[in-house]
Amino acid sequence: MVARKSIKTIGVMTSGGDSPGMNPCIRAVVRTGLANDLRVIGVEDGYEGLIHGRFRTLGARDVGGILQRGGTILQTARSAEFREPHGQREAIRQMSNAEIDALVVIGGDGSLSGAMKLAEQGIPIIGIPGSIDNDIHGTDMCIGVDTALNTIVDGIDKLRDTASSHNRAFLVETMGRESGYLAVQAGIIAGAEMVLIPEEPVIVADVASTIENAYLRGKTHAIVVVAEGAKPSIHELASQIDAMDIGFTMRVTILGHIQRGGKPSAYDRFLATRFGYQAVQFLLNGQANVMVALDGREVVPIPLRTVVSNRKTLSLEYLQMAKTLAQ
Ligand code: F6P
Repeated sequence: MVARKSIKTIGVMTSGGDSPGMNPCIRAVVRTGLANDLRVIGVEDGYEGLIHGRFRTLGARDVGGILQRGGTILQTARSAEFREPHGQREAIRQMSNAEIDALVVIGGDGSLSGAMKLAEQGIPIIGIPGSIDNDIHGTDMCIGVDTALNTIVDGIDKLRDTASSHNRAFLVETMGRESGYLAVQAGIIAGAEMVLIPEEPVIVADVASTIENAYLRGKTHAIVVVAEGAKPSIHELASQIDAMDIGFTMRVTILGHIQRGGKPSAYDRFLATRFGYQAVQFLLNGQANVMVALDGREVVPIPLRTVVSNRKTLSLEYLQMAKTLAQ
């Protein structure tokens, strides 16, 4: 966890799926670095840019006016080449040529695993958890989750208006190929009749009977939130339930990538700024190969190896809460 040599130049990059709040985080890294006499280099296009030397020096003005912008000004990518040893070697060579002494990686679990590969080869790394899925071990929250949830809830609220007007059931898909976090939280705060997540497979007949029961209880609508990775998938559910008599007519809405965009919420801006600020403080204090993490109200360092060798499990207590409240 201790950085070996004094750090004069840091690189910062975003990687994997973007999440709202990455820009405020970049801004915080750059300005905290500059305030401490570090040179800050932005790496474009995640690990792709690292391999191909797509670097630009960032000044305070280069990160002006981005606090409120979704996406990432550095662009992002999922790099297959970086998974190969030759990709990692090229990335290290490019960093050495540009005299980048340490790298701040903002991204999800795949990006942090990539960062660990560099750490193993001697590059001081600070990871920052950025993913709407909130599936990264060691941190209560990731950058982007709050904004994505607000987008989802706004969408479901609107769908409920039209569902009630037409006496319809809606299957609504949220993101989360491997994690049901967004679906469960959205189910609770948007008042869904049922939530389906990858962690708890169900059978189609149970979904159909839950919808029909809502109809029999006199509801004017039924909302079923289906995580992207749920089993059965939203498409399987739609095709099978469509042929059944469940009282309501049914429609399907896939919220899709709108969940990844938009202005970062106040919460995400603050979290991202705290993470970015603290990432540089950790480096200045001689720490490396850690991820900044939210633990309750504190921002703490967690060894990167611990982060990438564990999976964050979903609290099924919240799924139970969603079920209990869907009366
Ligand atoms: O990991 C973030 C995430 O948005 C997941 O929720 C989703 O399954 C995936 O990325 C989608 O990836 P892509 O943007 O490559 O389609």
